[in-house]
Amino acid sequence: MGAALCGHDGRRGHIYHLAVEPAYQRLGVGKRLVDECLVGLRAAGIERVIILVAADNARGRAFWRRAGWEDISGAAAMGIDL
Ligand SMILES: CC(C)(COP(=O)(O)OP(=O)(O)OC[C@H]1O[C@@H](n2cnc3c(N)ncnc32)[C@H](O)[C@@H]1OP(=O)(O)O)[C@@H](O)C(=O)NCCC(=O)NCCS
Repeated sequence: MGAALCGHDGRRGHIYHLAVEPAYQRLGVGKRLVDECLVGLRAAGIERVIILVAADNARGRAFWRRAGWEDISGAAAMGIDL
């Protein structure tokens, strides 16, 4: 009903592709998935976790803000196609 990928590079944790099947949204599944990611990352000694949220994903941003995540000022997302 939902999925999240998380990992770390030894310093920063990252959570990718959090998604909950629409029929199961607003039932606490997304929060539980994130909480389990954070438990695992904390156990690995990670102290800071980063996510990328599309600027036009208002619902996604509302979810992360509700959970206490903050915008990162002074950072710009960059990428390259391979
Ligand atoms: C974002 C998403 C994963 C949230 O999953 P969810 O299972 O519906 O979220 P939860 O039920 O665990 O909600 C946790 C809290 O966030 C709040 N919340 C969830 N969606 C929200 C929204 N759209 N707007 C405001 N608050 C929201 C809930 O009310 C809940 O608050 P509470 O702790 O006070 O009860 C889900 O909407 C989704 O899959 N969206 C499409 C994919 C996506 O945008 N992923 C994120 C990309 S970075």
